[in-house]
Order: sequence, then structure tokens, then C-alpha cells
Amino acid sequence: MTERVALISGGSGGIGREIALSFVKENIRVVLLSRSEDKLNKVVEELNRQGERAEYIIGDVCNLHDISEAIEKIHSKYGKLDILVNCAGGGPVGGIQKITDEEWIQNISVKQLGYIRLTREALPLLIQSGQASIINIIGVFGKQPSKDFIIGSVTNAALMAFTKAVADDMAKYGIRVNAINPGATNTELWKETLKDLAADSELSPEQINQNIADLSPMHRIAEAKDIANLASFLISDKAEFITGISINVDGGTYSGI
Ligand SMILES: NC(=O)c1ccc[n+]([C@@H]2O[C@H](COP(=O)([O-])OP(=O)(O)OC[C@H]3O[C@@H](n4cnc5c(N)ncnc54)[C@H](OP(=O)(O)O)[C@@H]3O)[C@@H](O)[C@H]2O)c1
Repeated sequence: MTERVALISGGSGGIGREIALSFVKENIRVVLLSRSEDKLNKVVEELNRQGERAEYIIGDVCNLHDISEAIEKIHSKYGKLDILVNCAGGGPVGGIQKITDEEWIQNISVKQLGYIRLTREALPLLIQSGQASIINIIGVFGKQPSKDFIIGSVTNAALMAFTKAVADDMAKYGIRVNAINPGATNTELWKETLKDLAADSELSPEQINQNIADLSPMHRIAEAKDIANLASFLISDKAEFITGISINVDGGTYSGI
């Protein structure tokens, strides 16, 4: 098969779906991995209006068996994997005094271990590709920690270190590994986050959204398409000498240099 094959965890969510849409438009076959069949079905139907290039596998990235089975299915159907996008995740709002032990364990299991396990299990197929690309959708709090999003801050910093270490290790197989750090991005996850923030505030979700948008010199939050545009670049030949980095897509909200 000459077409590239991509696996996208969290492919039924806001950012994953938009990345999948960009990929199918570039004639890449996409396999979406997440838990809810209803959501997967809806997104795959939509993607297949662009040509029959999308399918899904139901699985929980907290479950090693689900991950191994997904990789095995891709192996037996396509015999290869060229692109892995780790995107399944999310995280609750809260600081050190609010976040419970269960919430820490849950988030580490989904986002940290989820990305780590899926990457490790996919490597044998990615190595065979000869010019594979891994993209980790992480988040800008990993670079600029927030006291109000402590889980996202800790998990994201860990995943940036993971991205760099795997990039260094896998370059010998022609695998490039990069991260995208979205700032606030207009998805269901963000809408839920705004509701949680509003519950502890006198402001409405809309007012909070505007205040956060105004932290950017461009005065808006990201759309999922902004993240997908960078993903398309990172998997392209134009990025053939780029590996081990993380790029913010936050309209300049991050205040470091
Ligand atoms: N939106 C933002 O503002 C923002 C900012 C920074 C970073 N990010 C990161 O970007 C990524 C995507 O976020 P999003 O905004 O697109 O969120 P979203 O719309 O809530 O989508 C999340 C996706 O992950 C899947 N998922 C969640 N838990 C899973 C599990 N245990 N196993 C398999 N799939 C699972 C969901 O499907 P099911 O629930 O059906 O499994 C869904 O497809 C996340 O890692 C998030 O932390 C988002």
C-alpha cells in the first residue's frame, strides 16, 4: 500500500477529529481510537464523505490490552503504520488543594501512561515505515505551569520530556517525534472547562472565555483547525529535519521566549 496510515487516539474529540479531517484530505488513511462508539461512528461517517479513508477501533488508552489489540488490528489490515497522533486526554480544573488522589491517578493513567504505552506498542510498526512521524498533543501549561490547572501542568511537562527522549532514541529509525502545545482551544473539553471555572467564579463561561482570549495578543482562543494545520506540516516532508520539539499554538499567550 502506498498511502500512509495514521492512528489517532482521541480521534473522535475536537482536536483529534480536525487532525483526522486534514489527514484524509491529504489521502492518508486514518484509524481513530477512543471509547465511545457513537462519537466514533459520527466522526468516521463525516470523514468518509471525503473518500473512504477512515475507520475506528473502540478502545481505552488506560487499558494495555485495548492498545495491543488496536495495533494488532492495524498490523493485520495494513501491515504498517506511518503516523501516530497521541491526543486522547483532558484534565480537571484545580490546584494542589482541590485535586484528589483519584484524579491524579486517572489523569496520569489516561494522558501520561496512555501516550507512553501507545507509543511503545506502536513502535515496531512505525520502525518498519522507515520515515514515520509521532505527534503528541500536549498543552502549553507544560511550559508555563498554572496553579489552577496543576494536573495539566505536571502531565504536560512530563510529556514534553518524553517527546524529546523518544525523538533522540528513534531518530536512528527515521522516526520524528514532535509535540504540539495547544493553548485554550474551542472544543467540548474547553466548554466543560469553562463551566467548571465559572462554578468557582462570579463570571459566566462566556466572560471567562473572553478574559482568557484577551491574554493572547491576538485576542482569541484557538480553533481545532489551528492545531490540525500544524499537525499537517509536522507530518510533511517540509518538516523532515524537525524532531524533538514542542510548538505552542496559543496566539502568543505563552509569555516566555
Ligand atoms: N481543548 C483545549 O483547550 C486543550 C488545551 C490544551 C491541550 N489539550 C489536549 O488536547 C487533547 C485533545 O483535547 P480535545 O480538546 O480535543 O478534547 P475532547 O474534545 O474532549 O476529546 C478528547 C478525546 O479523547 C478521547 N478519550 C478520552 N479519554 C480516553 C481514554 N481513556 N481512552 C481513549 N480515548 C479517550 C475522547 O473520546 P471518548 O471519551 O469517547 O473516549 C475524545 O475522542 C487532550 O490531550 C487535551 O488535554 C486541549
